Amino acid sequence: MNRLTGKVAVVTGAGRGIGAAIARAFAAEGAAVVLAELDIETAQASAREIAGQTGAKTLAVRTDVTQSASVQAAVSEAQQAFGPVDVLVNNAGINVFADPLTMTDDDWRRCFAVDLDGVWNGCRAVLPGMVERRAGSIINIASTHAFQIIPGCFPYPVAKHGVIGLTRALGIEYAPKNVRVNAIAPGYIETQLTHDWWNAQPDPQAARRATLELPPMKRIGKPEEVAMTAVFLASDEAPFINASCITIDGGRTALHHE
Ligand SMILES: NC(=O)c1ccc[n+]([C@@H]2O[C@H](COP(=O)([O-])OP(=O)(O)OC[C@H]3O[C@@H](n4cnc5c(N)ncnc54)[C@H](O)[C@@H]3O)[C@@H](O)[C@H]2O)c1
Repeated sequence: MNRLTGKVAVVTGAGRGIGAAIARAFAAEGAAVVLAELDIETAQASAREIAGQTGAKTLAVRTDVTQSASVQAAVSEAQQAFGPVDVLVNNAGINVFADPLTMTDDDWRRCFAVDLDGVWNGCRAVLPGMVERRAGSIINIASTHAFQIIPGCFPYPVAKHGVIGLTRALGIEYAPKNVRVNAIAPGYIETQLTHDWWNAQPDPQAARRATLELPPMKRIGKPEEVAMTAVFLASDEAPFINASCITIDGGRTALHHE
């Protein structure tokens, strides 16, 4: 408790899933949290629930991470409400899984607009303030798709590889200013996104069983398990962790095959 007391955090895509779990964990550790989310109703519901559970200050702001001005406006609202932003979690993301040659141009642009431009738009919005105060932690939610390829999932892994590149580049650029930029690469985590993917398969139950068989721990992760690592990276317990990526996949990416 109180590992983030006095800090102001912005979490994108915090209306549900991993983002909502991170917002909840930050609030439980004493941060004031802005839930920057496209779906304002889910963000408001999460913000209310989290404030009720933790007593923390929360604010929901309608934000489209694909639009630089929208993210800038969310950061300004955060500053006006709670003060300078100490922590940004670029979590908003979408699955765009297609065959490379039948994929539409729109699929390609949509994927990069949310999964890579969205991360950069967030970084660009908070970096000037963090550099000025010589303090800040940015956490980008990548994926194990940033390291390994599953056929048929194009171009999502391309964008997630980019998130790691962006994390490393900005981590180095701003290290002299004491701004840390890190990534988290989750494996399968049980959220609506995962359920949507299972439900899109010809046999959803079989797809679910197959997914649960993949990790060496024979289960998939929980949003709260990602949130615990985000708390650590956001806190003063990780002052020398920068331009790095923590994988949360129960060991799956270390496994060659069984
Ligand atoms: N669930 C997994 O297994 C998994 C694994 C690896 C990485 N990830 C990554 O974790 C992040 C969160 O995933 P999740 O499973 O919680 O997804 P989710 O779909 O449950 O939640 C994503 C949230 O982002 C919001 N969002 C979408 N587009 C947005 C936009 N343009 N602007 C603002 N908000 C927007 C959605 O409204 C939603 O609330 C994503 O970046 C995803 O790629 C998820």
